[in-house]
Amino acid sequence: MVYRIVKYLNNPILEQQASPVSEFGTTELREIVDSMFETMYSARGVGLAAPQVNLGLQLCVIDTTGGEPEEGEVQRKIVLINPQVIHKEGKQTGEEGCLSIPGFREPVTRAKKAVVRALDVEGNTFEIEGEDLLARAMLHEIDHLNGVLFLSHLSVLKRDLIKRKIKKLQKAGEWD
Ligand code: NI
Repeated sequence: MVYRIVKYLNNPILEQQASPVSEFGTTELREIVDSMFETMYSARGVGLAAPQVNLGLQLCVIDTTGGEPEEGEVQRKIVLINPQVIHKEGKQTGEEGCLSIPGFREPVTRAKKAVVRALDVEGNTFEIEGEDLLARAMLHEIDHLNGVLFLSHLSVLKRDLIKRKIKKLQKAGEWD
């Protein structure tokens, strides 16, 4: 099932802390994860967090290939449940966007490397280390679970400008 993606300013869930997942290995959890991948691929994204599909859960999916690996690229479907960033290292700056804020991309500085501890759908703990795009994607998605959008990493001036543009689009009925 492809979920409808919630857009910024249309639903307060995007700025709320998500709740930890407490039941693992269930058909329901598996179906949510499958649908989130389906939704992310159909929107041509590399990451999607549960609040973006109106589910207040600490759960996100990532595939840095967007489901279409280029030659030599290894596709990896990553599911992070109740994740915690346990280590960050270095810095990288690159253009970042968000499926909940389509059409807006801005440079964001984040750690170059990140180590995350999370649970899988069965409830098993694992650690994953990411560099470059994977580190960026994990940090962006985990931000979502804490109600933080990439706009928070921009200057107040830039953030307000984007907010104003979105409000205009909302009024014009072009942001639903
Ligand atoms: Ni996002």
